[in-house]
Amino acid sequence: MPKTIIVTGGAGFIGSNFVFHMLDKYPDYRIVCLDKLTYAGNLSTLESVLNKPNFRFVKADICDREAVFALFEEERPDVVVNFAAESHVDRSIEDPGIFLKTNILGTQTLMDASRKFGVERYHQVSTDEVYGDLPLDRPDLFFTEETPIHTSSPYSSSKAGADLLVLAYYRTFGLPVTISRCSNNYGPYHFPEKLIPLMIANALADKPLPVYGKGENVRDWLYVEDHCKAIDAILHKGRVGEVYNVGGHNEMANIDIVKIICRELGKPESLITFVTDRKGHDLRYAIDPTKIRDELGWQPETKFADGVKKTIRWYLDNEAWWKAIIAGEYRDYYEKMYGDR
Ligand code: NAD
Ligand code: DAU
Repeated sequence: MPKTIIVTGGAGFIGSNFVFHMLDKYPDYRIVCLDKLTYAGNLSTLESVLNKPNFRFVKADICDREAVFALFEEERPDVVVNFAAESHVDRSIEDPGIFLKTNILGTQTLMDASRKFGVERYHQVSTDEVYGDLPLDRPDLFFTEETPIHTSSPYSSSKAGADLLVLAYYRTFGLPVTISRCSNNYGPYHFPEKLIPLMIANALADKPLPVYGKGENVRDWLYVEDHCKAIDAILHKGRVGEVYNVGGHNEMANIDIVKIICRELGKPESLITFVTDRKGHDLRYAIDPTKIRDELGWQPETKFADGVKKTIRWYLDNEAWWKAIIAGEYRDYYEKMYGDR
């Protein structure tokens, strides 16, 4: 049966890739994107779908009850997928307040509207960061859905707060929820404040590549399309009230990622500069994806070696997209975060 899906945060990195995936795979679904267009949201990202008859873009804040309830009244969505969030750990260390507001109170507003208008599924896009970190010298340890919540940054704490609220709305009000907790994504439309696109942009400009600490921190990378397919599988086959971890056993130390980018772009490793570490820097993330694989048959399709090449090619072919970003207010951000680091 055709569905109407409200996708919040669809002008950001993962949300936009999800919008493209859904419009492509389910041409009879109606996709309504609700996005505040913060510094991280970019309407030009959605340009190719803005005129589709089954797509609608609405500029609004998920914390704005009136706007959210009016949209739900008008669209009567079957499904809500919440990507909207403040997503950058470094910014949360500078200014936690907006993270608590958007990530927790915005989630509450969306769930209140979902209750009132009787949606059949509310899906919360969460993160592996809610589990805190794992030691570098215990490669046998992984995050499962049973791993206790144990956060490190204001960002991850706000995401964990939202997850707890989502599970409370399930138990207390019977709201039909699901949660996905994914590892680090990479791919097209990744905002250039994050590791991979930042290093690509700096390397292309022969600028220093600022690696925090010793570069030994480990992240578990997943190509963004694979994350979108996992959410699709959870929406269509997942069990209500459940949490699903999403990841593909692709752990890499930051320094190795930066070296790969240098090699792919033909740039010297001498650009690498070790800078002051992130406060409270999580050491290692590593997802155990057994549950989503065994229950829903989801597996990642893109290997890192191919995904990173595709991603670099995308940044080379779409310079206008990211150059417009780094020429704007991003310059002040960069100066503040990296100026005397
Ligand atoms: P992003 O920062 O690229 O995009 C966030 C989007 O949300 C932007 O379009 C922004 O305008 C919008 N937004 C922010 N505040 C809003 C508000 N108050 N109302 C409406 N819209 C608002 O983020 P991303 O990397 O695409 O992450 C999307 C989601 O996935 C987040 O919830 C994040 O926690 C989660 N996640 C991200 C990763 C990752 O590696 N990037 C991994 C796991 C989970
Ligand atoms: O694990 C999922 C999370 O991944 C998501 O929930 C977050 O929204 C997303 O931003 C990402 O968080 P990270 O902090 O892991 O991503 P980031 O790209 O900021 O950093 C990746 C690693 O690279 C981290 O160990 C810090 C390091 N780093 C980052 C930047 C921006 C550097 O060494 N230098 C940098 O300039």
